[in-house]
Amino acid sequence: MCLLTSCISDEVVRPVPVEPEETEAQRVDLDVLYIGAHPDDEAFDLATLGQWIETDKLRIGVVTLTRGEGGAAGAARSSGLRPFLAGLRPFLAGLRPSGGACAARGGRPGRRHAPGAVPLRHLEPGERTMKVVELGNTGQKVSQLSLGCMLMGTLTSEEESRQMLDRYLDRGGNFLDTANCYGWFLRRGSHGGESEAVLGRWLAQRGNRGQVFLATKGAAMVRTPDAHWREGDEVDWTSARRDFEGAGRETLERALEASLRRLQTDYVDLYYVHVDDRVTPLDETLEALARLVKAGKARFIGWSNVRTWRLERIRQRCAAEGWPAPVALQQQHTYLRRRQGLEHASIVDDEQLDYLREHPDLTLVAYSPILKGIYDSAEKRQGHWAMQPYLGSDSDARLAAVAAIARRLDVLPHQLVLAWLMHQRAPRVVPLVGPRTLEQLEQNLRAVSLSLSPELCAELDRTSG
Ligand SMILES: NC(=O)c1ccc[n+]([C@@H]2O[C@H](COP(=O)([O-])OP(=O)(O)OC[C@H]3O[C@@H](n4cnc5c(N)ncnc54)[C@H](OP(=O)(O)O)[C@@H]3O)[C@@H](O)[C@H]2O)c1
Repeated sequence: MCLLTSCISDEVVRPVPVEPEETEAQRVDLDVLYIGAHPDDEAFDLATLGQWIETDKLRIGVVTLTRGEGGAAGAARSSGLRPFLAGLRPFLAGLRPSGGACAARGGRPGRRHAPGAVPLRHLEPGERTMKVVELGNTGQKVSQLSLGCMLMGTLTSEEESRQMLDRYLDRGGNFLDTANCYGWFLRRGSHGGESEAVLGRWLAQRGNRGQVFLATKGAAMVRTPDAHWREGDEVDWTSARRDFEGAGRETLERALEASLRRLQTDYVDLYYVHVDDRVTPLDETLEALARLVKAGKARFIGWSNVRTWRLERIRQRCAAEGWPAPVALQQQHTYLRRRQGLEHASIVDDEQLDYLREHPDLTLVAYSPILKGIYDSAEKRQGHWAMQPYLGSDSDARLAAVAAIARRLDVLPHQLVLAWLMHQRAPRVVPLVGPRTLEQLEQNLRAVSLSLSPELCAELDRTSG
């Protein structure tokens, strides 16, 4: 009937056309099934899948074979396949040869999707969809979509936070992001550490520390959180920035100890310098970080909110002294491009993209990838502070392109933006989302199964105003 594709990791390596003349995605009304399978799994049965396709129960099967990881991760995936396939049979039995299947799953009957795009599909409970990417060239694999925990314990209740963490892990995610300062600035009366504490209690209760790649940050905690609140529950960021603790040796040592206590763990996988501290001598910071790595308290280091020239200096000092260099750069990055001439240390610009392209040993972790939800709502965009650095005709054109293509694909605009980010290869990007609710997380997570053709990505890339 149509196309059966095998993939290893995120590279399609072996397209197997069942009937070659029918393989163009645009000729069929796509109805896609992905199966994540371990190559060694005997239950993985291509013939059955082929039969389903030939008898019109399924029109496109995309079989994702994970790289032969072996060990616990491989075994877990393999063992998940059997029940998944068993659960699939009744599901397929209920499908009608055309159109109806979409309706049954909340889609539109008979809808034709954009050429070359694979639409979002229904996710079964517990279905794992997440791919992994390498962090720098460390050999360490992290999930392609990272979960920001900034709002947990303040704007998101502990109970809902735990549900979100469980759901993210269920979907195959492992890359969690927090900071010691989260979230003093989110709720008057908070003093930082709320997010780490929620994570720590969840990790302790689940006993799953070994399954997550845990990142936290130091240097941006303020000394006097209560002093920076203005009337009307607003934070005065000008005074707050002047009050950052910074990245001195003692500060970092004390901050990481406190983070570890709250996180109820002996080590973090990634420790970021949250804001670039130009007052503390750089060597003092780098030496302190090297000691923390040597002591086994942090496995890798990263930097956030930093200009490219500083990053280069940091890396040069590390190379010269044999100190561990940052493997992750956490900056604000999205589909919209910052305004020309904008002074900003935190938002990726062309120069930084170029630098990252030349240095694949440094992974871009993109925070605020959906700009607080502004892609989905023209009303939210109006006067929203998150739009300020982007205002202009280029963003107008890009917002229009996202809206139009998302409509064509029948997905939410922010899902398209996340998928576009995850399709970037030079440099590779790990979007770091920060949903406030479980429902928002579910919507964010669906973006990992949105596959964009090179033509669609090029259309998005070309857009400018
Ligand atoms: N290094 C740094 O300096 C830095 C700075 C900021 C963040 N971070 C990290 O990056 C993470 C993500 O940052 P972020 O929170 O700015 O990212 P984001 O994902 O761009 O924004 C999150 C906000 O988007 C909205 N949203 C999310 N899903 C939605 C959906 N499905 N529909 C509609 N709206 C949706 C929500 O807004 P509403 O609450 O209005 O509904 C939510 O609070 C944080 O958790 C933190 O770990 C790091």
